[in-house]
Amino acid sequence: MPKNALIKIDDKEISCPVMVGTEGEKAIDARNLRKDTGYIFYDQGYGNTGSCESAITFLDGDNGILRHRGYSIDQLAGQSEFVETAYLIIYGELPTMKQRKAFGDLLRQNAHVETQMQRLFDGYPKDTPPMVMLASLVASLAGYYPDLATNNFEKDLGQFDLSAAMAISKIRTLGAMIYRHTRGLPFLHPKDLPFCDNFLHLMFSEPYHDYVSIPEVTSALNLILLMHADHEQNCSSATVRMVGSSGVNLFTSLAAGIGALSGPLHGGANAAVMHMLQSIHDEHDDGTRFISAAKDGSKSHRLMGFGHAVYRNFDPRAKVIGEACGVVLKKLGKSDPLLDIAHNLEQAALKDDYFVSRKLYPNVDFYSGIIFRALGIPINMFTVMFALGRSPGWIANWREVASNPKGRIYRPRQIYVGPARRDYVPIAQRG
Ligand code: CMC
Repeated sequence: MPKNALIKIDDKEISCPVMVGTEGEKAIDARNLRKDTGYIFYDQGYGNTGSCESAITFLDGDNGILRHRGYSIDQLAGQSEFVETAYLIIYGELPTMKQRKAFGDLLRQNAHVETQMQRLFDGYPKDTPPMVMLASLVASLAGYYPDLATNNFEKDLGQFDLSAAMAISKIRTLGAMIYRHTRGLPFLHPKDLPFCDNFLHLMFSEPYHDYVSIPEVTSALNLILLMHADHEQNCSSATVRMVGSSGVNLFTSLAAGIGALSGPLHGGANAAVMHMLQSIHDEHDDGTRFISAAKDGSKSHRLMGFGHAVYRNFDPRAKVIGEACGVVLKKLGKSDPLLDIAHNLEQAALKDDYFVSRKLYPNVDFYSGIIFRALGIPINMFTVMFALGRSPGWIANWREVASNPKGRIYRPRQIYVGPARRDYVPIAQRG
């Protein structure tokens, strides 16, 4: 029996339908509220607003649950690999052998970056932030492949398999090229290798010395990319949906998502965590001073890698990555003093009333940087790695928007708090 919610305003009662999701999440469908009453809901930052229906990822922040297309992140982390999970997220089902092979082939066939496009790198100053380069390079894919980026959903969806594989594969190659550009190293050609090994080759091979695959490194990279593959309506995915809702192509929407991800409160947090751990290490602090500064409530002193807009219990990704950290370092025969600092910080914060009462726990970014560092990836590339991992989620979200025949352009409302109506004063009379 469908339920309704009654909203009473100024003695007027409005009945709004109640929606219930697969996992019992409830929402009030308030789309007609403004039309019927003149009121809107105010929800700065959309923290309590469902902006869409989505079949990609289920996230229960109170209970630390994350599932992609029904499969728990723990099972995927333990049994799947990045490319397979990317397929699952994009297409909705785990691939058959045949589908997995076809997807892998498409990724391999689209790994290269056109020579003409490589010249774009000449225009970037050496110290251009990697995420700035990545966003503009991905946006420019729409110029290099105009047939895949017509800004007509029907046509663009007709080429979706190709554009999706191209986006993931080229973000990987462009990421490695950005790394080499910032170091003044020559670019390398992709090889006929599995996805992660190809990335490691593109990053670390030398002209007369090919990168030799190390299974532990490949599997750690696979795990960390998989852990970032999607995360419901986070800032960058919501951005991709919003931009896509204007009818624009996949590449332009992805570029917008990359821009959103680069902020320090979102994907940029993984680099900020490493800077924080390094400065604690350099100052021979055991973390105590940092923790007490983080409690002043200002955004500039936050304990980076802690807290989450949705998780209020624990971030299941942080649990998997935190455990993997020690294992990966051991397998690689490395040690990292920053891992000890991270453990100490976590233990101290989890006992501190400030963090406990606000339900602040380590998030995915708290330990991921230590794994990236162990793989030889420099800090300024961490958010690029996050972008590569998140690309399947963005693509799946764009596809949902593009395939929804009833979809509307995203256009929130606001409460205007500027000056009331006033008359124009000519400049000569303004004093
Ligand atoms: N360190 C210290 N205090 C914090 C922190 C932190 N990391 N995070 C939140 N708080 C405090 C905040 O000052 C506020 O205190 P009060 O109630 O006294 O005003 C309270 O906790 C609630 O914070 P909030 O700003 O309402 O929380 P939010 O849900 O808006 O923000 C967040 C979520 C992730 C932006 C925030 O926790 C943060 O800035 N964390 C550090 C940055 C970070 O690690 N970001 C990565 C997020 S996970 C990866 C991703 O998906 O992007």
